[in-house]
Amino acid sequence: MATDGGPPIDAEALEASRLARQAELESRTSRRERNRLGQYATPARLAREIVEFALSQCSPGRPISFLDPALGTGAFYAALLGCARSGRIASAVGFEIDAAYAATAKVLWKGTPLKVCHRDFTRERAPGAGERATVLLCNPPYVRHHHLGTSDKARLRRLSAERAHIRLSGLAGLYCHFMAIAHGWMEPDCIAGWLVPSEFMEVNYGCALKEYLLSRTTLLRIHRFDPNEVQFDDALVSSAVVCFLNRRPSPEHLVQCSYGGTLRHPAMSQAIRVADLAPTEKWTRLPMSRAAVAQEGYRLGDLFSIRRGLATGANDFFILDEAKASALELPRRFLRPVLPSARFIREDEIDADTNGVPRLSRRLFLIDCDLPADELRRVEPVLWSYLRRGLADVAARHLCRSRRVWYLQERRPAAPIVCTYIGRSDHEGRPFRFLLNHSQATATNAYLMMYPTALLARRLARSPEALRAAWRQLNAIGRDTLLASGRVYGGGMHKLEPRELASVPADALARAVGLPPKRALEPLEPARVAARKARRATSFKFRSTSR
Ligand SMILES: C[S@@+](CC[C@H](N)C(=O)[O-])C[C@H]1O[C@@H](n2cnc3c(N)ncnc32)[C@H](O)[C@@H]1O
Repeated sequence: MATDGGPPIDAEALEASRLARQAELESRTSRRERNRLGQYATPARLAREIVEFALSQCSPGRPISFLDPALGTGAFYAALLGCARSGRIASAVGFEIDAAYAATAKVLWKGTPLKVCHRDFTRERAPGAGERATVLLCNPPYVRHHHLGTSDKARLRRLSAERAHIRLSGLAGLYCHFMAIAHGWMEPDCIAGWLVPSEFMEVNYGCALKEYLLSRTTLLRIHRFDPNEVQFDDALVSSAVVCFLNRRPSPEHLVQCSYGGTLRHPAMSQAIRVADLAPTEKWTRLPMSRAAVAQEGYRLGDLFSIRRGLATGANDFFILDEAKASALELPRRFLRPVLPSARFIREDEIDADTNGVPRLSRRLFLIDCDLPADELRRVEPVLWSYLRRGLADVAARHLCRSRRVWYLQERRPAAPIVCTYIGRSDHEGRPFRFLLNHSQATATNAYLMMYPTALLARRLARSPEALRAAWRQLNAIGRDTLLASGRVYGGGMHKLEPRELASVPADALARAVGLPPKRALEPLEPARVAARKARRATSFKFRSTSR
């Protein structure tokens, strides 16, 4: 392409040169250094798809004033040069905090419209109306909140509130602040394309950002990549592309929500009315979220009180296998059976011997003693001589230090059902397993422990066999329903928090254990009717079907 009046620009040759310099820069910096500034380059193919999508959404005659607030070597600018019609780029600005990257970009883009500013974008004053961007594309630095200094964080939060009225919590990462701060850099109807971690879609700190996207912008597209296909080789975050116009939306506006595949060819896509999207919902459920429709019946939380298993503070020290515990002659009364990791449990049903110890190849015991040290030394010298080995190291660990007696364990009676709540989705198997536990073994925080609530306990008292029916139903819950209820990390790792598992619809389970329909059970009082209506209002309704 050629810029107005200038010599022709060979976009392809420039991109080849950029990629070579990018690789050279990366080879010179350690992974740790790149982490500090969130330097994860956008793959060229992805940058091109984002640019193509963005350009397809702007009016063709509008001149492009381009802005990349976190330029790097200029992946988006390179793609823009390759896609935009000759002469359409009226101006282009890129900010880059890192001297080496900024210097490289200056050399690379000399003779093109791009002005490279070696500065911290978050400290720049936004330009006046008429000088702002019409196309803003950015892969902002992925820097987690705990790597932001206290005063910097306060400054960023203040700025985000000033520029976009987004009240970000202290847990928000730098990328959220970038999105908020960039608001003041956009002309009306500016198209923005952000490549960001999808985390904001499902965690509390993301609600403020979602609120902004729904109320202050016309959200065009949310595409979430399949976390099993990590976009950046070296950053284990699952990524999303968020595209919007700087214009308030009409309630009937349709947002294209897509998932998997590529931005150009997503595996799934649905258009959802903006009025049907709520900032409090997990957007990572989109677009496949049938599980999110209004659910008036039972949820698992009505039938089970769900708690994470116990955190011992030092599994290697407090948990011993049977052979070691007997070789040390530790007193039996202070040893509680504890479940081993789920990979040692082949069947989903755990049988027990007459002492309540699981019949498993790996039999483990937790030292669970509530005697104070003085007494222990006197009455159980053998156990004391083992525990005192941990005085220098284990007792000093944060969790142990916070206990009344450093080796005292939390109360977690054996639960009749436990759930493995961290799992992968990139294989055919189930990411989460529900185990029926007939033993007296407690469990560590590698499990969620599911204790029947009073409602279910009453039912089980009358018909104990209903527990088995409940367990079968748990394992029959659709894999997508469970995945949609939890959260996902890069690399396809899924996790279900107790509250998330408790929110899973459970009408089928309730029926299987013989409970009457929930509405027949308890008439709705006015407050609950209102809550139901509100839930209905914030639930997702799907307009079009997936491709
Ligand atoms: C995720 S990389 C993206 C680079 C490039 N735009 C791309 O897409 O490949 C983010 C870039 O922002 C830069 N950066 C980090 N903090 C910044 C700041 N406060 N102001 C400007 N640039 C910043 C990093 O050095 C890094 O090059």
